[in-house]
Amino acid sequence: MSGTYEANPLRDPADRRLPRIAGPSGLVIFGVTGDLSRKKLMPAVYDLANRGLLPPGFSLVGFARREWHDEDFAQEVHDAVKAHARTPFREEVWQQLIQGMRFVQGDFDDDDAFEQLKATIEDLDKKQGTGGNFAFYLSVPPKFFPKVVQQLKKHGLADQKEGSWRRAVIEKPFGHDLVSAKELNQVVHEVFPANEVFRIDHYLGKETVQNILALRFANTLFEPIWNRSYVDHVQITMAEDIGIGGRAGYYDGIGAARDVIQNHLLQLLALTAMEEPASFEADALAAEKTKVLGAVKLPKDLGTGTVRGQYAEGWQGGEKVVGYLQEDGIDSKSKTDTYAAVKLEIDNRRWAGVPFYLRTGKRLGRRVTEIAVVFQRAPHSPFDHTATEELGQNALVIRVQPDEGVTLRFGSKVPGTSMEVRDVSMDFAYGESFTESSPEAYERLLLDVLLGDSNLFPRVEEVERSWMILDPVTEYWAKHGKPAQYQAGTWGPDEADEMLARDGRSWRRP
Ligand code: BG6
Repeated sequence: MSGTYEANPLRDPADRRLPRIAGPSGLVIFGVTGDLSRKKLMPAVYDLANRGLLPPGFSLVGFARREWHDEDFAQEVHDAVKAHARTPFREEVWQQLIQGMRFVQGDFDDDDAFEQLKATIEDLDKKQGTGGNFAFYLSVPPKFFPKVVQQLKKHGLADQKEGSWRRAVIEKPFGHDLVSAKELNQVVHEVFPANEVFRIDHYLGKETVQNILALRFANTLFEPIWNRSYVDHVQITMAEDIGIGGRAGYYDGIGAARDVIQNHLLQLLALTAMEEPASFEADALAAEKTKVLGAVKLPKDLGTGTVRGQYAEGWQGGEKVVGYLQEDGIDSKSKTDTYAAVKLEIDNRRWAGVPFYLRTGKRLGRRVTEIAVVFQRAPHSPFDHTATEELGQNALVIRVQPDEGVTLRFGSKVPGTSMEVRDVSMDFAYGESFTESSPEAYERLLLDVLLGDSNLFPRVEEVERSWMILDPVTEYWAKHGKPAQYQAGTWGPDEADEMLARDGRSWRRP
């Protein structure tokens, strides 16, 4: 990197307190021509370099079938960085980064290509001083995971030499159900030791998600009421306004529940509901998350306790958009869920009887992810009924994105001569309270991989527990009917509203 970390003008003040800088290392990306790589991984590497958090000789190796040379690959990275990086483009940073960029052409069963990859890594060790430390990022469809890790083993690429490391980074979806996840875990663990396997759930890389821990455990205010005595229910929403874009091949047959409830939403639930961990080290965190996921209980009747939907033609942002079945590459009889909602309970002393409603969907009203902890009504009201007509339930809303922050909603007297109480909110917004900017999730997670810090990566037990929760739901859906239709641009199927109405509740309209 040009200039030292200390002299870097883009250094975050927060990093000064805790300069976590990666040591000599490199990253190999399989599936480097894909969307994730272009939009997230390449820009994240650049942003880390730009912030002075990568070592001077950091190396980036792309592996794909495309007939590219090193220069073509570098050009791709350059374009991706220009289009998607978070921090400004600086020529001197780019010139330094490009020294360690290589491309290896081949497909996953091509032994010569893996030998070439090995030679490339050895060459980078000599020229760039990467010290034999490489992370292999599998940004490829899960059906290729076994092949790639076996090839890494066969060609000695997973071997850790004395004093150096080799790590596997695995993108979701990690399996299709419990059985396939277990098979994958076995394959990966035959090649890499458990502490060198990093499963990505990029929601854990988001500042607002990590802040759940700070909110709950750095304060005295919330934890005493964070239980069944005060909480009425919890709503976890991850709504997207986008459709499936060009991802038909990935999405069809997977659907909303497997795509995001199994991972992102259950991780949000785990962080919201778990007990305080003994520390924020990986083992302690994983133990608490696993424990609470193990206590999650599905409703007895999956017909009324879950909802799946599929978007039909509608309007979004003033434009007409097609329905899911009309999207390019989608089977016109597909039963894939683009919306999923499920009511869960947690069978433990803290949460007994408190429903956790999870919902997600594509082509909904707007993009928003939030966790709303909704409190019980006051046990007694000294006000007459008309005074509190407009009073809702108190709620604490963790705004994961966009408009990151936390809102506390409570009742307040309306100014005037009579006693009337109405809902007001108190807001914390990242943009107003902090001058530090939030790194992208992938920036944080890639740095953690290079540092060997696995706190923000779900463990195998969490992944398997999550499939145990979801499998009965997807099995039930496969046997019963088809998804309810909802018009694009709305908040999902009527059945989802009915599910809450039966409990005397309603979804928030964020
Ligand atoms: C991914 C899902 O994990 O998360 C996508 O596969 C989804 O379907 C994406 O669009 C949303 O991520 P974010 O960070 O934009 O909320």
